Amino acid sequence: MTSNYLVAVTGDKGGVGKSTVTALYAEWLLYHKNIVQIIDADPNQSTQTWIDKCAEFGRTISQKDAHITIVDTAGTSGSSLIKYIRNADLILVPFKPHIADLEVIVGWYLSVKESLQERVAFIPNMLSNTKEQRTGINELKTTVSEEGRGQVLTGIGERKAVYPPLLNGSDKNFFATKLNEATKLETQKLFNTITTLIK
Ligand SMILES: Nc1ncnc2c1ncn2[C@@H]1O[C@H](COP(=O)(O)OP(=O)(O)O)[C@@H](O)[C@H]1O
Ligand SMILES: [Mg+2]
Repeated sequence: MTSNYLVAVTGDKGGVGKSTVTALYAEWLLYHKNIVQIIDADPNQSTQTWIDKCAEFGRTISQKDAHITIVDTAGTSGSSLIKYIRNADLILVPFKPHIADLEVIVGWYLSVKESLQERVAFIPNMLSNTKEQRTGINELKTTVSEEGRGQVLTGIGERKAVYPPLLNGSDKNFFATKLNEATKLETQKLFNTITTLIK
């Protein structure tokens, strides 16, 4: 695995799952024996709070000299864009597949340079298998395939009992806990694909 690989987690809106995806991906990497560094560039600091809580439980999440650095950004513009997104090897963009959220994220994707579009991987989050969500995801897939750069990854279901507690911190790695089959499957699918993107 390449060292100093930079993954930016971004998206225009708050509450779409940036911190959740950051924490989940960090847990996945740690579970698979990678050294991870996390930079929380979002002023609300949910990811840093999670790291601090895990430290209170005696668990180190973020280290220097990591294989992969994950940056949880505040959004797609301003200093995050300049400092992190433009330099990222991979740009993960979680989103809720609703019309309003999609418009913002598609607008951003269409406005950036081709070299940046190429590194974008959208992650549909909080899926509840509605027709509206399926339509939204299909529209995004069409746009991405028309541009011919970037991709739409498999999604994460809306699981209130599973994902929100993650950010409370724990003494155990998320993937070392007993997960239901659906959670196991969707996280495996997603992070196995992401792993192929960074090799
Ligand atoms: N797949 C999911 N299922 C259920 N709740 C989720 C899911 N993803 C995120 N959440 C919850 O939604 C809220 C916003 O997520 P968060 O990761 O903090 O978003 P952001 O970092 O983009 O603001 C949090 O309370 C989080 O626990
Ligand atoms: Mg956040």
